[in-house]
Amino acid sequence: MTSNNEDSFNSITSISELRKIVQQARLSGKKIGVVPTMGALHAGHLSLIQEALARTDIVVVTLFVNPTQFSPDEDFGNYPRPVEEDLKKCKEAGAHLVFHPDVSEIYPEDAYTTVSVNTISEKLEGQFRPTHFDGVTTVVMKLFNIVLPDVAFFGQKDYQQQLLIKRMVKDLNVPVEVIACPTIRDPDGLAMSSRNQYLSKQERETALLVPESLKLAEKMLLDGEEDFDKIKDAMKKLLTSSDEVKVDYVSLAHPETLEELKQVQPEIVALVATYVGSTRLIDNRIIHLSSISSNQ
Ligand code: PAJ
Repeated sequence: MTSNNEDSFNSITSISELRKIVQQARLSGKKIGVVPTMGALHAGHLSLIQEALARTDIVVVTLFVNPTQFSPDEDFGNYPRPVEEDLKKCKEAGAHLVFHPDVSEIYPEDAYTTVSVNTISEKLEGQFRPTHFDGVTTVVMKLFNIVLPDVAFFGQKDYQQQLLIKRMVKDLNVPVEVIACPTIRDPDGLAMSSRNQYLSKQERETALLVPESLKLAEKMLLDGEEDFDKIKDAMKKLLTSSDEVKVDYVSLAHPETLEELKQVQPEIVALVATYVGSTRLIDNRIIHLSSISSNQ
């Protein structure tokens, strides 16, 4: 197999077949990259594939709507699954392998083992989706063990998710380098998400309040505001200026521990989770306050 050779595109549903092909590539000295996704691919996902192509020789994209990260009242059944379109997009993007297993291939029987990253998984998203991250870290660990990649690519869009995966890899000595890639946005600023397609035209407009609330936090901090409650209140006020919006949380947190901050520091992550109508949207922004010294 050669990298960037369209003829080498393979779409695979079985673990054993995937392992065979990846093993061959590895034995011939190729560096393996993996881009885990749930499909319904958009430019955000494709940017991860591009980054993987730039840094590795063989790029494996996984398309798997993972049931264990959805709670019973979430959209697992309705989650979009345009598999043929996704395969085409992966091929056009230059990926070499797409792994799109059935649920029974990944979960042939009830499992007794779960990978759980405590503390940071309990904050923010964890407060509202208490079983979500165990589903994510467990399936990502399984995908790592199936693909055995050298490098894995995740989006900063799901800030807490990439942080947990980096932590899992560190804590469990998983020999995978995890790279977080920047959030890709529509030209008007809305972060791309497979769930944006649920939004009505009006809701799509309203959803812009989400990135605007993050920019507001940045502006207030850069303007010297130090009262974090005041900033978060202003964010909430902006978000709820539309009665289509329900706020799950706004947070100004430490970029690694996700501890809620009380005073300024050089790097702060602002995070928001809201419902716009019945669609749940998350977004975040890293705010750099260059004039603050790190020992403050
Ligand atoms: P999914 O939501 O399909 O996202 C797959 C990857 O694409 C994640 O790493 C996510 O952060 C990244 N991504 C999504 N929107 C993005 C954007 N606008 N810009 C850049 N990257 C973006 O996240 C999952 O799937 C699942 O939880 C998964 C990790 C695959 C485990 O099931």
